[in-house]
Amino acid sequence: MTATEHQPGRSAPAVDLEGLVRRHSVGHALAREFYSDPQIFEHDMDRVLLRHWFCAGHASSLPTPGDFLVVELGSESVIIVRTQDETIRALVNVCRHRGSRICTTRSGRVPAGRLTCPYHAWSYDLDGRLRVARQMPESFEHDRVGLRSLAVRVVEGLVFTTFAEHPLDFTPAEQALSRAARVHGWAKAKVVHRELYSIKANWKLAVENYMECYHCQPAHPDFSRQHVYARPARQAEALERAGRCRAEALGIFLADVDLYGCAANPGSESVSVFRSALHEGVASATPDGRPIARLMGDFSDHDGNSTYFDIGPLSDFLAYADHGIIYRFVPRAAQHTEMEVLWLVHEDAVEGTDYDVERLTWLWKTTSIQDKRIVELNQAGVNSRFFEPGPYSLQEAYARRFVDWYLSEMAAA
Ligand code: FES
Ligand SMILES: [Fe+2]
Repeated sequence: MTATEHQPGRSAPAVDLEGLVRRHSVGHALAREFYSDPQIFEHDMDRVLLRHWFCAGHASSLPTPGDFLVVELGSESVIIVRTQDETIRALVNVCRHRGSRICTTRSGRVPAGRLTCPYHAWSYDLDGRLRVARQMPESFEHDRVGLRSLAVRVVEGLVFTTFAEHPLDFTPAEQALSRAARVHGWAKAKVVHRELYSIKANWKLAVENYMECYHCQPAHPDFSRQHVYARPARQAEALERAGRCRAEALGIFLADVDLYGCAANPGSESVSVFRSALHEGVASATPDGRPIARLMGDFSDHDGNSTYFDIGPLSDFLAYADHGIIYRFVPRAAQHTEMEVLWLVHEDAVEGTDYDVERLTWLWKTTSIQDKRIVELNQAGVNSRFFEPGPYSLQEAYARRFVDWYLSEMAAA
């Protein structure tokens, strides 16, 4: 083997990130490397993903002090825990002794109100302060060693955190989100079902797919039968107007918000909110279009609309009059993304009486399985040496915007 040949175990040649950003053809999908290369995934983590806020879940999953969730992003892990004073904290899941993970399950309740490391049993209060470390030298200062704490915001029950040392301003996102989530009553909601989809694809392919509905008619027949959003804008116009009138007749006034990307709102987290109509006669996302559960928030009746809201690049939400969905995209590796889907209903709703889990989850289970399949097929094709980035259609404007935003983030860092 000559000195220039790549040898197993040696690091791969550095990818020319700046060149790839410069050579991007506007209005087209990204080059293959952005969707497949492990080095670019590391840049994604540093330049984009760890800088932004993301939704960790809903506060109803942590009703009692000591309840926790573990949420991950790439190789990072954070413990979201309810403390003794009922606040919610985010603590980096890395022991301050020699670095072991502390919580090893996805959720649970901390025994005896202490977070105890499984390695040498250092234990921490729920606010991250170190309480017990055996046989340490006298010079060891307990008070100076605590779990790293991350910023947290709870907005109408939605829990957000960020790994950023200097977080983006969350205020505009919080304002827009709290209006939308308040109308839908999400502070008085509870998570009643969870699904985790492991997708063999880059996170940007999963997010682009979520951002566009060009694929809805061919890939999601059930969704398309019920949601006007599946139609091209011009065909949907009159139906959207009718939906808006139905909502206003019930006193639901929820303005669209478009603060997508830091260019529109420098130094702040992105947020967008928009409403879209359901087809005539569809009250909710059930197999027969009939209601699923008791009404939430300000709704006195089904208005035949759905509300989409997004925060940052990884957190998306969908609200109907009687239930809600949280999507959490979790990038894990260059070609591995998890999509966690959580279903919300009114906090007082009773299973079997007020809602049926099968009916509640029918549409978004069906749709998520379809999405996993098409996104994995997309990744397989993108990995081919014959792949060339193609042009976005008019109905993929949001996917195109996402790609433009992503490139601006990569170039700015
Ligand atoms: S690594 Fe946690 S106690 Fe040693
Ligand atoms: Fe889809």
